[in-house]
Amino acid sequence: MALVSAKEMCAKAKAGHYAVGQFNINNLEWTKAILEVAQEKQSPVILGVSEGAGKYMGGYDAVVGMVNGLIKDLGITVPVALHLDHGSYEGCYKCIKAGFSSVMFDGSHFPFEENLAKTTELVHVTSQLGLSLEAEVGAIGGEEDGVVGQGECADPAECKTIADLGVSILAAGIGNIHGKYPENWAGLSFETLDAIQQQTGDMPLVLHGGTGIPADQVKKAIELGVAKVNVNTECQLAFAKGVREYIEAGKDLEGKGFDPRKLLAPGVAEMKKTVIEKMELFGSVGQA
Ligand code: 13P
Repeated sequence: MALVSAKEMCAKAKAGHYAVGQFNINNLEWTKAILEVAQEKQSPVILGVSEGAGKYMGGYDAVVGMVNGLIKDLGITVPVALHLDHGSYEGCYKCIKAGFSSVMFDGSHFPFEENLAKTTELVHVTSQLGLSLEAEVGAIGGEEDGVVGQGECADPAECKTIADLGVSILAAGIGNIHGKYPENWAGLSFETLDAIQQQTGDMPLVLHGGTGIPADQVKKAIELGVAKVNVNTECQLAFAKGVREYIEAGKDLEGKGFDPRKLLAPGVAEMKKTVIEKMELFGSVGQA
């Protein structure tokens, strides 16, 4: 099945009161693992690629080739979107050209008027090509490829202005943070989320920083209009745990345990467990 836009899958999720997971990819092992889990669980899925991860994998053409090749070779039939995560203005154009089916333009660090102007332009470009566009209002806290936000809460009126441009999905800061949450984190601001949802109606909302948000808060956010949840760090931690345990047990020194296919397998297995857990929590299992 060819890559699809994230617009329809997120609209369907919002109407059905569940969320589609965006899992960030870093290499072939991750991409293959996420696709296999999505197929096994009959769940739609969004593969997220940050600009840093795109560069790491060799470039956006290499990413598109790898993802399309795996979808074909693994016989993946569930809906898959390939999505640029926190894209710059230039990055969005590069990914569109390379064959991504979805892009996020993160203009949250620009003055609002500039975010508005650039998002408007990208709405026209992506809608003509049948691709989905995610916009962001109110920076998400933590660090993502060197972009540092403060975990602010977005202004619901600004969210409405951006939503009305015709973006497909909207990320809005509601006190969420990328990476691990600090001990003294106040939790998600449901008051802000509720106000945003009331202003933006049917617009599927995106919850970034999915790692470490307690399950009850994730469920409540989905009830209040979140239709896409992004997870990255939790997969990284799971993968690292699996590989670390393998090496600490000395298994890389036994026989041909050093073979990368063997060395990375426990990391993949741990990561798959995390992806399954998240798909079950988000309610996307069986929704393909
Ligand atoms: P985490 O790394 O906190 O899971 O956040 C992922 C994310 O929001 C990607 O945009």
